[in-house]
Amino acid sequence: MSIKFDIKTEKSITYEDFLEFIQTNKLNFSNIENLKSCSIKLKELYNNRNFLSNYIINELKNYNNIQENNKYTAQVIILTSNKDFMIRANIWSPSPNNLSEIKMNAYDIYHDHNFDLLTLGYFGSGYETYLYDYDYNSINGYNKEYVNIRFKEKYQLKEGHILFLEKSRDIHLQCKPRDLSVSINVIPRNMENEKNSQFEFDLSNSSIKRVLNHQTANSLIEICSYFNDDNIFDLVQTISRKSPIPNIRLQSFKALMKMDKSKRKEVLIDIKNDSNKLINSFFLREIEINHDN
Ligand SMILES: [Fe+2]
Repeated sequence: MSIKFDIKTEKSITYEDFLEFIQTNKLNFSNIENLKSCSIKLKELYNNRNFLSNYIINELKNYNNIQENNKYTAQVIILTSNKDFMIRANIWSPSPNNLSEIKMNAYDIYHDHNFDLLTLGYFGSGYETYLYDYDYNSINGYNKEYVNIRFKEKYQLKEGHILFLEKSRDIHLQCKPRDLSVSINVIPRNMENEKNSQFEFDLSNSSIKRVLNHQTANSLIEICSYFNDDNIFDLVQTISRKSPIPNIRLQSFKALMKMDKSKRKEVLIDIKNDSNKLINSFFLREIEINHDN
């Protein structure tokens, strides 16, 4: 459930203080006290009006290797990234001038996240967002599936305001801000997050439009379905049996069904034995009907 924080404090801390707080307190946002205390520290970081410009200046001094580990687009500045959490600054342009800016900012795209997100309006008037929610456990997760999407409210991430978005529950759409704006995100990381699909939704018919994550892995697996090679079949079969991520297992099963027709029965048994509902629903919709084809 989305939560808004408008915290009153004049205290100011350094980025290093903030980092130390995050590192010594486990980032479990399902614990409301943990979430609140992190929000207070984030507001104290907001009160430090120089930390981001200092960070950027230091990055620029290393101008031959700027953000060398940043896998995102130019609209994202990675401040800290490790196995437990990520802190990043997002730049929100009022007039995006290329496709990557539009894509990264997800303007006009109704989507959820498969991670909890605490975000602070650090600079500028801030984007407006339309907030909705849904129940991840009530859906299977395939394209065009109906989802009961509920409108919650419209909200503007103004300077100094903080918004919490719950993973696999809150849906939102960002609108371009009136002027250049920057938000600071705090994102806990764990393997459980990776298991969930992240969706784009079609609100015109209240359904899933497409899955947004695991695209690179799934496109590599899809390419494998065009190779006639026993070693590749075995590798994809191992992925279909062992990957903890249902969406990747599903793509593996789809590839295996195309690869070696003589092994289809073996693959079908694996699909039937997979207890995940995304894979069960794929079996019911796509395979059981066409199993003789
Ligand atoms: Fe988002």
